[in-house]
Amino acid sequence: MVHGGAGALDNVKDDKTAVRYLESIRRILEHGREVMELGGSALQAVEACASLLEDDPVFNAGCGSVLNENGKVEMDAAIMDGRDLSAGAVAAIDNIANPIQLARLVMTESEHVMLIAEGAMRFADHCGMERAPENYFYTPDRVEQLKQARLKNKIMLDHDDTEEDSEDQKYGTIGAIALDPMGNLAAATSTGGIVNKRMGRVGDSPIVGSGVYADNETCAVSATGYGEDFMRTVISKTISDFIYMKEMNADAATRAGIEYLTRKVKGRGGVIVIDHNGNCASGFTTKKMIHGWIEHGGEAVVRF
Ligand code: GLY
Repeated sequence: MVHGGAGALDNVKDDKTAVRYLESIRRILEHGREVMELGGSALQAVEACASLLEDDPVFNAGCGSVLNENGKVEMDAAIMDGRDLSAGAVAAIDNIANPIQLARLVMTESEHVMLIAEGAMRFADHCGMERAPENYFYTPDRVEQLKQARLKNKIMLDHDDTEEDSEDQKYGTIGAIALDPMGNLAAATSTGGIVNKRMGRVGDSPIVGSGVYADNETCAVSATGYGEDFMRTVISKTISDFIYMKEMNADAATRAGIEYLTRKVKGRGGVIVIDHNGNCASGFTTKKMIHGWIEHGGEAVVRF
């Protein structure tokens, strides 16, 4: 399963734009399946899918990241392996084309779970990861979006769907989750965060249990929306706990998680979930969430 953000998605105003987004998600799902058909693991599949989502400027991650209060890109990402709960995360980084790949290196090549800002960048250099130039990240849409946020003097979710922001709605965070034929689950989430955010603000995406979670005994989860809401409800681990403690399937656990998110903090956003039996589910409190899934056989299914 992959998602490309939750919100009103009112920027998908015509069929041509809708097709552009739907085709991107479909192509990425097909690529993820191919990775596993060629013997790749769930972990490899989610890293590959998240990287492709980061490479597509329409999504708020990698090259399409939104801008902070200083007009700069600061990205967060995390990846988790359900086999042994190993995880890697980076926060407040810039100039890295694929933050999810740096998160994977934190997981496999360091003794830590999360590295941030300058430390994460030094680690990227240490691993030989190339730095992308500033202009790789600046799309005209993102510059205009920041201008609008500054005019309103507010912080905006990239894909806000509150009434007053109805003209500004765009896409958000990206994520990928997978179950491979060996029964291994994995999850990856990556984001530019929220528009006009304070410098140094970190959202839910790189926080294990909030924006990302994977445990072979329960499920894989990736979240999108207002990070602060998901951090306070530890939403991904909460959904996993519903499966572990209440023996729910993906659908029931997702519904219970969304109910908890809404009741506790009026949370704005959504999740995609695959349980250990391969059941897929999605839930969101926003008007829409672009997401899709693909199985071993059959066509990709993509939904707004
Ligand atoms: N969910 C993305 C963020 O709040 O940064």
